Amino acid sequence: MDSIWIQGGRRLNGEIPISGAKNAALTLMPCALLTQEKLTLTNLPRLADVDTFSHLLNQLGVSTSVAGVKKGEFGRRMTLQADEIVSTTAPYDMVRKMRASVLVLGPMLARMGEAIVSLPGGCAIGDRPIDLHLKALECMGAEIEIAAGYVKASAPKGRLKGGDFSFPVVSVGATENAVMAAVLCKGRTQLFNAAREPEIVDLCNLLVAMGAKIAGIGSSHLIIDGVDALGGTTYEVMPDRIEAGSYACAAGMTGGSIDLIGARPDDMRATLNALAQAGLMVEFHDRGIKVSADGKLKPLALSTSPFPGFATDMQAQFMAMLALAEGDSFLEETIFENRYMHVPELRRMGAEVDIHGRSAIVKGVEGLTGANVMATDLRASMSLVLAGLAAQGETEVLRVYHLDRGYERLEEKLSAVGASIERRSQG
Ligand code: UD1
Repeated sequence: MDSIWIQGGRRLNGEIPISGAKNAALTLMPCALLTQEKLTLTNLPRLADVDTFSHLLNQLGVSTSVAGVKKGEFGRRMTLQADEIVSTTAPYDMVRKMRASVLVLGPMLARMGEAIVSLPGGCAIGDRPIDLHLKALECMGAEIEIAAGYVKASAPKGRLKGGDFSFPVVSVGATENAVMAAVLCKGRTQLFNAAREPEIVDLCNLLVAMGAKIAGIGSSHLIIDGVDALGGTTYEVMPDRIEAGSYACAAGMTGGSIDLIGARPDDMRATLNALAQAGLMVEFHDRGIKVSADGKLKPLALSTSPFPGFATDMQAQFMAMLALAEGDSFLEETIFENRYMHVPELRRMGAEVDIHGRSAIVKGVEGLTGANVMATDLRASMSLVLAGLAAQGETEVLRVYHLDRGYERLEEKLSAVGASIERRSQG
């Protein structure tokens, strides 16, 4: 198994190209199920999760082909075509590997009138039920049965019909499944308290390009008038705001300056505000966002919340950064119940963090020290990489497969801005 080795303490300076967004890619790809025509996605990140999703789609009958990457280019171009769906089942071994597999439920049900998807079960950051995905689909007439660990959803007479649904809790995945189902419903669907994350705007924009009728894009009230069929198109995946925010923290923690090429300020206002409050300089330019630090970090009080609030996917990275702030910071995790798995590992590197239920107090320390560490999820792993970049001495981050799920060419991008980082194979 591979691990990442970091010799910490180097100031990072330079440009990092931001890849296509993982979480956008994982909701744009299943849109291929909604049409017989070709869907081409560009700026697709080279990530393990994208490969896993394309294997799942292949099993359902979607053909996928990837165009060669030109030298110096990061994104990939993938053409997906589902002229015939050969299976309506997303099996356990796929959904277990990648929770986002449940995003085939809505589009498959809309296209085929039937979908059988394994229940995802718990994951490292909490329970993560899919009850809201199912309730939203029931409002469109779906009949749902749960048996032997699988959800079997069917549409009476083979087609869903429009309906109104108000989400009691803001859910990104449930909103995505509902939108993908509603676009082919007979009649109008209204979604209230829908998630407003930029990845959902990306999804809606793609669907509109395929011929869907969606009003209220970017708001929490989506009005979708179902159409009889959708067509193919070519669409560019949005830049990854979480990747960009993670590298901004790397600049903050090493007292460096990083240009996040391609990052979009509007997608990450809460992150940028928090960086500015922590004392970093944030500048916008034609090609992206420049984030610079002078080595001093101010403590912060941050609470995670749905977009446009501070993203839960940035919490672990900010905790690593605030471990080096001049004073005590307060963090509150309101989205997932078990998202402090990185804390024991950060403590082993010298961070002082007290957890009280969903809150954490981070007492800033003078410096961190390198150690052998491992994490249980993607963003937690990134927080350890960040800590390693700032720490004195060597850090080895184990379980690199988490990082490979969501950070494209991590070592290459960080080396290019001056980090001493490499991947070593453990044989
Ligand atoms: C997505 C993102 C993930 C991010 C999260 C929150 C993808 C692939 N993943 O995950 O990176 O951390 O949004 O921004 O895009 N909930 C229910 N019932 C449901 C669905 C959700 O109770 O049916 C709860 C969850 O347990 C959680 C909250 O709603 O407490 C938000 O979860 P949700 O927005 O659905 O997260 P995901 O879509 O799984």
